[in-house]
Amino acid sequence: MDQYAVFGNPIAHSKSPDIHMHFAEETQQNISYSRILGDDVEFENQVRDFFANGGKGLNVTAPFKDRAFAMCDILSQRAKKAGAVNTLLMGKNGDLFGDTTDGVGMVRDIIDNHKQVLKDKRILIIGAGGAVQGILDNVLAENPKSVTIANRTVEKAQALAEKFDCFGSSFEDLEGAFDLIINGTSASRSSSLPPLKDELANEKTWCYDMTYGKGTTIFLQWAIDHGATGADGLGMLVGQAAESFYIWRQVRPDMTRLLNTMRTELE
Ligand code: ATR
Repeated sequence: MDQYAVFGNPIAHSKSPDIHMHFAEETQQNISYSRILGDDVEFENQVRDFFANGGKGLNVTAPFKDRAFAMCDILSQRAKKAGAVNTLLMGKNGDLFGDTTDGVGMVRDIIDNHKQVLKDKRILIIGAGGAVQGILDNVLAENPKSVTIANRTVEKAQALAEKFDCFGSSFEDLEGAFDLIINGTSASRSSSLPPLKDELANEKTWCYDMTYGKGTTIFLQWAIDHGATGADGLGMLVGQAAESFYIWRQVRPDMTRLLNTMRTELE
């Protein structure tokens, strides 16, 4: 049986094993998938040991995505741009290959599951950390009219904007309503919201929160309070997993049934 796992710290909360075992059952793949608590000092050795013991593939989550990136022999183009890796695979010659599936997972969720269009839209992205860097390339590939990154630490927004050829801004300097707003701050996970002006969203705005949880996230509540609509990042979680599964198994699982089950469990 082929072995897969996810490394993170903390890791007990990770839904990846459930998601991948669901995919495996649906596509009739004989695999195992476990959670491994990554060690702050020993992470690289843990990864090498996993593959040395016959492991086939790994997912990597916070806080190890940068370290996984740094230890790869070969990187996908999208991982190079994201500066992070969430999917690892060992080649036949022992080379470690790294890819990132977060961006494609999010954009496919927005387009396929939520039927939103990014092309020619004025898009605001909130936050300039690793999560945002991981999705920018995929957003820009959809040819939006403009992408503005706003961040509490404005220098980080400006640095990312320069790297990805879009706009960087402080929250105070943002003006007018956006067609689409994507929240990628970690603030949302701790139930706080950056200072967003009322004028940024109206009934024509569609909002996406890269995080998810029980009930409505604080950012989506802000969107609703401003007449906007939107979705949380549950589909991104399942979408990035489906893309990792495809990289490892060359089979594309269907996400609909799993997403419905997970949504019901959150209600
Ligand atoms: P992640 O991997 O989740 O992106 P990160 O790289 O630490 O984590 O980035 C966290 C992001 O959330 C940053 O954009 C951070 O803003 P700063 O760069 O100014 O720190 C943002 N963030 C976190 N807490 C926030 C808060 N309370 N208000 C506004 N932005 C916040």
